[in-house]
Amino acid sequence: MKIFIDTANVNEIREAAKMGCISGVTTNPSLIAKEGRDFKEVVTEICEIVDGPISAEVISLKADEMIAEALELAKIHSNIVIKLPITKDGLEACRHLVNRGIKTNVTLIFTANQALLAARAGATYVSPFLGRLDDTGVNGIELIKEIAEIFKIHNISSEIIAASIRNTYHSKEAAKAGAHIGTIPYPILCKMLEHPLTDAGIAKFLADWNR
Ligand code: E4P
Repeated sequence: MKIFIDTANVNEIREAAKMGCISGVTTNPSLIAKEGRDFKEVVTEICEIVDGPISAEVISLKADEMIAEALELAKIHSNIVIKLPITKDGLEACRHLVNRGIKTNVTLIFTANQALLAARAGATYVSPFLGRLDDTGVNGIELIKEIAEIFKIHNISSEIIAASIRNTYHSKEAAKAGAHIGTIPYPILCKMLEHPLTDAGIAKFLADWNR
């Protein structure tokens, strides 16, 4: 599983990029709004930090408006991936953009059928939301397994981005379930790195060395 960072905060992205294990970034309107900055300005800055797929989401709900928004966003950088909601208009916009050579990430996926439709509309990425599904009492990891199985049986090349990751258990289980990518918030990325025995080991090595 490749690791993307799920944030629009450029300081977090800079810190994560230094770790050398990040190959992309996902944003959404809520994450962008949290920064209180101009959308295009933030996305442009992110593209300068990470050389990989950068998802930027459209706000419009009608296909023609989504396409117009997407074409503007796609001008920012060749790494821009257009994030579209899994709706009828979202699928129409997805097919149109893919036919023009623009990469897409179909988001807000909560069922395997939604993922299949997005894949067949040419989505480069599909984003099932683990945490938000868990919140409703449905196992988000099972959804990743189902999508991965269907994509494998039918030789579908769309990549699965495990999104709405809330803890380190989600990130590990998403990798085991067959997600191609996990998009992970910065605090969880840091937690994935930690173990008390690692800290104790470093302290002991240093103490022994100094003795
Ligand atoms: C990323 O593509 C998603 O928008 C994000 O992971 C959603 O996370 P949340 O459910 O924690 O808002």
